[in-house]
Amino acid sequence: MRIALLTGGGDCPGLNAVIRAVVRKGEGVHGHRFVGFRHGWRGAMQGELIDLTFDNTRGLLQRGGTILGTSRTNPLKSDDGLEQVRRTMERENVDALIAIGGEDTLGVAHQLAGLGVKVVGVPKTIDNDLSATDFTFGFMTAVQTATDAIDRLHTTAESHDRVIVCEVMGRHAGWIAAYSGLAGGADVILVPEVPFDIDEVCERLRNRHRRGSAFSIVVVAEGAVPKEGTLTLQTGETDEFGHVRLGGVSSLVQREIEARTGFEARVTVLGHVLRGGTPSAYDRVLATRFGIEAVDAVHDGDTDVMVAQEGSRIVRVPLAEGVGQLKTVDPGLLDIAAVFG
Ligand code: F6P
Repeated sequence: MRIALLTGGGDCPGLNAVIRAVVRKGEGVHGHRFVGFRHGWRGAMQGELIDLTFDNTRGLLQRGGTILGTSRTNPLKSDDGLEQVRRTMERENVDALIAIGGEDTLGVAHQLAGLGVKVVGVPKTIDNDLSATDFTFGFMTAVQTATDAIDRLHTTAESHDRVIVCEVMGRHAGWIAAYSGLAGGADVILVPEVPFDIDEVCERLRNRHRRGSAFSIVVVAEGAVPKEGTLTLQTGETDEFGHVRLGGVSSLVQREIEARTGFEARVTVLGHVLRGGTPSAYDRVLATRFGIEAVDAVHDGDTDVMVAQEGSRIVRVPLAEGVGQLKTVDPGLLDIAAVFG
């Protein structure tokens, strides 16, 4: 078989490890050949592709980003986008596609499968918010990077008697905020799932300061929102999948804390630092297991499925499950965090 791979949406540590695993087993064990579409669906639509071989996918395990490049191009935005992908595959004699991406990429993959194209998905999101899988690779790396940053913010916040507001990624779900906030000992964690009341946040900080701590750490997910009617958040441009460019909630929180409590406050936005760099050991293993299962699924003739982590096992589930509801933060985690706030 000739099998294509693509990486779509935001990048994350571990994408290259998936590509390496797919090619290593697919070529070395099953005897298939591989190509990679450049820049996600854009390359698939425009026929921009490169050969992927055992040799040119060596040394990728620890490399961040994606050697294929990625984009947020959405084939469903143009009338014949899916048809263009199908035509590219036909012209290039590609028998099946492995699409590595989040809800948007996998949603397109599911539609393509509906047209009879053989497609297997690999779930990817730094935000860890895909419901069909317990974890996605890249997430634990982001949590570790954020935790390291929070540890550093602690010492400077303490030296200066400041409140430091640290913004992390998490558009619809606050998994990175919840995990890194817990791991880093944050005093307040704000997530998109629970609109925050700035008065309550300030009161918690005052209480803490009354109990003798003269500094605090607040971790905010970029998608956190104030309770309706309390504060106004500015919104930015949208991408082809209709997502607003986020960033800014932490400045709002910092300004309000300073104005309402009189505590000196600063902001640190971690943003794309969390998506860059080398994957953690856990993520290298998860990405490798996903890649192996995905290429085995293609080899077995499966289609319209994605690989997923269920407990400690890697399984195959219908793609439709992956693109359904988002997986929001377990409220139990936030209850635990509140004990330490
Ligand atoms: O969807 C994953 C994500 O990392 C979000 O947390 C973030 O809002 C978004 O991507 C950033 O996208 P971009 O890199 O296109 O600015």
